[in-house]
Amino acid sequence: MLNKKVEEALNAQINAEMWSAYLYLSMSAYCHSAGYNGMASWFEVQFKEEQDHAQILFNYVNSRGGRVLLKPIDAVPSEWASPLDVFEQTLAHEQKVTSLINNLYAVASAENDFATQSMLKWFVDEQVEEEENAQTIIDNLKMIKDNGYGLYMLDKELGARTYTQASPLSSSAE
Ligand code: FEO
Repeated sequence: MLNKKVEEALNAQINAEMWSAYLYLSMSAYCHSAGYNGMASWFEVQFKEEQDHAQILFNYVNSRGGRVLLKPIDAVPSEWASPLDVFEQTLAHEQKVTSLINNLYAVASAENDFATQSMLKWFVDEQVEEEENAQTIIDNLKMIKDNGYGLYMLDKELGARTYTQASPLSSSAE
């Protein structure tokens, strides 16, 4: 049985992951409108990954006999100044999510909930990757600046990203 405090914190994180999904779908729409179709596709993969994150937590709350309560998803931004701006906002957002995951881990730890801490380890590792991915693209964009060929090539490279279902979902027996 899930402790109430942990259950509430997990429900809040489900909402945060759904907001992240919505944010990245909005970024995908912006990239499409600005002609960066590869980046738009990259953000669509990001959108799907965030939905997976919410689903992992959703499944976990259910498996522990908790109650998932879905709250409204707040509006997300829709305009950015440039590809660099979009990826800088992505990094800032992922840094915020990292602190949310850390806080969630601290709540589980304070309540001696070892199963939740174990489940959250996947998210702790995932956040390292999320921040690194955004930082690498920012570094590339800073190197390229306004070079059209460079932007074209980076857009093409980012468009090659493919979606893979998050491992906690693909390995879970239904
Ligand atoms: Fe669900 Fe991008 O962290």
